[in-house]
Amino acid sequence: MSATSRKSAPLPDDIRAMKGATPIVSLTAYTTPMAELMDPHCDFVLVGDSVGMVLHGLPNTLGVTMEMMILHGQAVARGLKTAMLVVDMPFGSYEESPAQAFRNASRLMAETGCAAVKLEGGAHIADTIAFLVARGVPVMAHIGLTPQSINTLGGYRVQGRDEGAGKVLRDARAIAEAGAFSVVLEKLPAPLSDEITREIRIPTIGIGASAGCDGQILVHYDMLGLFTAFKPKFVKRYAHLGEEAERAIATYAEEVRARAFPAEEHVYSNKAPNT
Ligand code: KIV
Repeated sequence: MSATSRKSAPLPDDIRAMKGATPIVSLTAYTTPMAELMDPHCDFVLVGDSVGMVLHGLPNTLGVTMEMMILHGQAVARGLKTAMLVVDMPFGSYEESPAQAFRNASRLMAETGCAAVKLEGGAHIADTIAFLVARGVPVMAHIGLTPQSINTLGGYRVQGRDEGAGKVLRDARAIAEAGAFSVVLEKLPAPLSDEITREIRIPTIGIGASAGCDGQILVHYDMLGLFTAFKPKFVKRYAHLGEEAERAIATYAEEVRARAFPAEEHVYSNKAPNT
């Protein structure tokens, strides 16, 4: 299955079935217009909690709330026809207990229409994943660099190097065993990412991981050059829309000050048209 041949949005099981076959394409989205642009090209779109940093100016993802995820989840849902919608569970919405996780995951599904939720963590969160899956909540896991834990991981550093590799491998096995239908691998050495991809039976979605992963994801503000506060090595800039927008804004300001805008074609006469 590919994004171009598909007629309706895939389900988590369809994404799982893409392992080892077609590379899975995904991006983050937070708004309807961007979701509409991505829809024909992506297998799934993630409303990531990165929304807090790139759209709301927060210093990290820890301040993101359920309400923010629901609002942006609903906006993205309106823009999707053929890509599957996944919504991130924000920090503090699932770690306390499996029951708390179910309460919030089911709310995300009911209020946004998402097909699955994503949560961060490995072996320590496996029981919660199993609890959710048994109750009808498809779960995408997220291991390696898990940004909600930057304060215990020592910042945004590469995970899984040297003796850290064993822990990441155990995390991958535990979340796959618990029933996650796929897993995001963030900021891991490529050889370790390849080993995980070979070993577990669910698709790996890489971000700063390896071209050998079953799929890839990027934050669209990063790849379009709209978020430039910092640029990790794994971000490829496919466009420089921030620079283009800045140039357009500067030209507009100049033209308003010079009374060059609006020109004749932008103002109404006493006759039609009305638009
Ligand atoms: O929040 C996010 O955008 C994410 C992606 C980086 C995978 O979790």
